[in-house]
Amino acid sequence: MSVAGTVRDLRSGGEPLAARILEVRNLKKYFPVKTSLFGKGTEFVRAVDGINFHIDYGEILGLVGESGCGKSTTGRTVLRLLDPTEGEIIFEGQNIAHFSKRQLRTVYKNMQLVFQDPFASLNPRKKIGNAIDEVLAVHGMKDKEQRRERIRELLDMVGLNGEEDKYPHEFSGGQRQRVVIARALAVNPRLIICDEPVSALDVSIQAQIINLLINLKNRLGLSYLFISHDLRLVKYISDRVAVMYLGKIVELAPAEELFRNPAHPYSMALLSVVTVLGSEKNKKKIILEGEVPSPVSPPSGCRFRTRCRYATKQCSETEPEVKCIGDGHFVSCHLY
Ligand SMILES: Nc1ncnc2c1ncn2[C@@H]1O[C@H](COP(=O)(O)OP(=O)(O)OP(=O)(O)O)[C@@H](O)[C@H]1O
Ligand SMILES: [Mg+2]
Repeated sequence: MSVAGTVRDLRSGGEPLAARILEVRNLKKYFPVKTSLFGKGTEFVRAVDGINFHIDYGEILGLVGESGCGKSTTGRTVLRLLDPTEGEIIFEGQNIAHFSKRQLRTVYKNMQLVFQDPFASLNPRKKIGNAIDEVLAVHGMKDKEQRRERIRELLDMVGLNGEEDKYPHEFSGGQRQRVVIARALAVNPRLIICDEPVSALDVSIQAQIINLLINLKNRLGLSYLFISHDLRLVKYISDRVAVMYLGKIVELAPAEELFRNPAHPYSMALLSVVTVLGSEKNKKKIILEGEVPSPVSPPSGCRFRTRCRYATKQCSETEPEVKCIGDGHFVSCHLY
């Protein structure tokens, strides 16, 4: 569902809010790396290199691409766990790209992260009720009884009713991810960055967690940036999908449209190797040849050209602009 115009958010007392919860403009994140043993030269890993996208209130934007293309760096920079090299991160109408640690405290009440490994994000020596209690206390809920009530409510929401006195190791992987989700929800966020939230879980459990995320989104009016390399999941959960290659977004479209009609040769190849229910017919696998180039020195022009079967001279000379080729369908390729 994408929300047009202004929407009224119940938790803000019905005040109208802008339709976009997040707008990312020309975002770049470069990591410095030493080029020699003695550290004389420095080069930059251009992990995220000038990307633009937005997320509407109540929307799920999927972010896909091969390993190392910059998905996690995008999520972590949006959340300001990493400082951006350049660009704007407009979250609920404010550019948070250069917010101080103190200013970010209010942002973290509204934006949270759920990532792949629930074990790594939970303290093994803390009962899960206490772990959530800590978050509530840090964010200013002073009354102990009120916090206890809220913990019960949160655990109930994720299907772990009455489990507050257990330790992380007493849960299964899926249950631990439920705890992590409850903890992320504790502060009542509006946007959750989900970075491969189910890839460490058994396939049979993945669907339960995905459905929980969808239910919570609908019930609480949340928005998600859903990062995953699993295209079937992304198709299932997302309203729109952005495809990333070597630090750039090469295509962005409504999920149905992208899977039915991928336009960028990279998306075509990526989507051709997954069997998404109902889209198998006449589908030929396109095997991508060659290695992903280094993000330290990406190819000139179009970054995908070294692996693209349609590449022409123009592709090595000029970087393709973003073109709109349909309703909400954007592609960055000289073929269009
Ligand atoms: N702290 C860092 N210092 C240097 N390079 C980094 C750092 N973090 C990430 N990178 C590099 O940035 C690029 C993008 O990494 P990122 O983790 O964002 O990719 P990803 O799309 O999330 O991959 P995956 O699907 O494997 O999780 C990679 O080349 C990676 O090696
Ligand atoms: Mg990642």
